Amino acid sequence: MPRGLFITLEGLDGSGKTTQIKRLSTWMERRGLSPVVTRQPGGTATGDRIRALILDSTSTPIAPLAEMALMFADRAQAIAEVIEPALAAGQFVLCDRFTDSTEAYQGGGRELGSAAVLELHRLLCGNLQPDLTLLLLPSLEGSLQRARRRNDRQLAHDGTDENRFEQEQEAFFRRVWQKYREIAAREPRRVVLIEGNLSIDEVHEQIVEAVSERLVTAGHKA
Ligand code: TYD
Repeated sequence: MPRGLFITLEGLDGSGKTTQIKRLSTWMERRGLSPVVTRQPGGTATGDRIRALILDSTSTPIAPLAEMALMFADRAQAIAEVIEPALAAGQFVLCDRFTDSTEAYQGGGRELGSAAVLELHRLLCGNLQPDLTLLLLPSLEGSLQRARRRNDRQLAHDGTDENRFEQEQEAFFRRVWQKYREIAAREPRRVVLIEGNLSIDEVHEQIVEAVSERLVTAGHKA
């Protein structure tokens, strides 16, 4: 049984990842490639508890190193429980955020550095690498505005508060943004950078093009 393809989506809060994952997943389903769709943090029962702990802005403060450790605890569980079994069974996995997020947010944003993140990834995640990473990087300003609007809506709608990361200063997001660009420059074969202020349809088209190409390379019919 050939291994499945592991595809991750990355980007700043408010970059439109969630919409694009849904559209990509529908596109794949229509081609009989039904993917397993998951997200980080979360995606397992243990991971959802870790997610709540990390993202609730009313919870007690979490030290940057503890935050990074929790991200990896969540990821190790997701790999063991969801990602690796699916790939081994030949399934496609679409994951909303993976270790590039930890490198960008904790390594860049919290200034813990890339080396620690990459070392933990080797130790705790068996150095599992996505076959393809779609990095959505529209303008920083636009992303921040969308993220704020989305959080305000969610808070008004159901009272849940996942505001912790959005409350960070602009300088934090700028560091995250720069680290993402650094990752894309370092790993151009794995990471497809989708930049600029494109429409939802235009981003989807670029995603489909990148995924089709990877499917062909991997010997699947696109
Ligand atoms: P989420 O609500 O999933 O945001 P989005 O829809 O933008 O992905 O929240 C995930 C938040 O967690 C987001 O602000 C990025 C952050 N994060 C990290 O800081 N490190 C990580 O390793 C991961 C996976 C996420």
